[in-house]
Amino acid sequence: MTNTESSLPGVRFIGSGSAVPDRVLTNQDLAQMVDTNDEWISSRTGIRERHIADGENDSVANLAAKAAQQAITAAGLQPENIDLIILSTSTSDDLFGTAGRVQKILGAERAVAFDLVAACSGFVFGLVTASQYIRTGVYKNVLLIGADVLSRWVDWQDRRTCILFGDGAGAVVLQSSSQNSLLGFEMRSDGKGNDLLNINYLGRSTFHPITMNGQEVYRFAVRRVPEVIEKSLHHAGLEVNDLDWLIMHQANQRIIDAVVNRFGIDPAKAVSNMGKYGNTSAASIPIALNEWVKADKIQKDNLIAIAGFGAGLSWGSAVFRWG
Ligand code: UT7
Repeated sequence: MTNTESSLPGVRFIGSGSAVPDRVLTNQDLAQMVDTNDEWISSRTGIRERHIADGENDSVANLAAKAAQQAITAAGLQPENIDLIILSTSTSDDLFGTAGRVQKILGAERAVAFDLVAACSGFVFGLVTASQYIRTGVYKNVLLIGADVLSRWVDWQDRRTCILFGDGAGAVVLQSSSQNSLLGFEMRSDGKGNDLLNINYLGRSTFHPITMNGQEVYRFAVRRVPEVIEKSLHHAGLEVNDLDWLIMHQANQRIIDAVVNRFGIDPAKAVSNMGKYGNTSAASIPIALNEWVKADKIQKDNLIAIAGFGAGLSWGSAVFRWG
């Protein structure tokens, strides 16, 4: 199976943006809250600090809209040019969905807007979903946002999980084009692993804070992520050595290192910024992408593979050219 058919409209990546809350929580700060220390957190995860939402201003909708406005501006468009908004989030401000609030803040009055829930795979799944609307000729300009405020759902007394997560949002604008830059993708789910990572409904309008079997999720990621990257490269007719950049979900530096070793690629090609942001779930890939674009590291036509993985279990990868 190939993901690209030349007679169909193509997908181009024309802008990116990101936003994080101002408030920073360091490993030293966490050591005052739970029985942990900077050495354990940084050596086991690579995380040194994370940005944490502080009140209404840092809602999912506000962070998402900030990232989105940057992406729209970078794309040279206006909010009213956007046809479709997909907000990938698992931490909605409203269980009915947050995409409508983002649409309202942006003033993207022509757009249809909806949420997509796929945890830390949300940006990859959102990209594939967005691309289907473009490839079928239904929509021209699509805004894709990954945004999560997991700090709301963390048990701040559970040292196994509270050290991992940060809050933020990242966005890209995709546009219909005669050239197709989304060259391959692969998405997977395994519901047998559903109980490994959850924010479960408890009853009477309450949810249990995040629970995770860290070791099992780690093993799953190291085994499954390389497979899915290889599949998406295969669909694109490319090999891992063709890549300029690998942007994996920023969950743990050791997971990135394991995948880099497995492929034997230059570690400098594997984008990593989790030291500053922690695991921002659906936002981690687009925040990293935007940071590398803004720093002029990612250049037009660079070949990029992204890979997300997490609750569901779900995992997926996409290969595309930037710009
Ligand atoms: O975004 C979704 C995807 N999520 C992931 O990819 C997460 C994947 N998992 C991981 O990244 C790792 O499993 C963790 C970073 C969560 C944990 O690292 P680990 O090397 O698997 O540690 P562990 O859970 O095996 O714990 C080792 C020890 C335990 O002590 P004992 O039982 O050996 O005495 C823990 O109680 O470390 C202890 N520990 C801590 N110690 C200090 C657990 N958390 C902490 C902590 N500070 N924060």
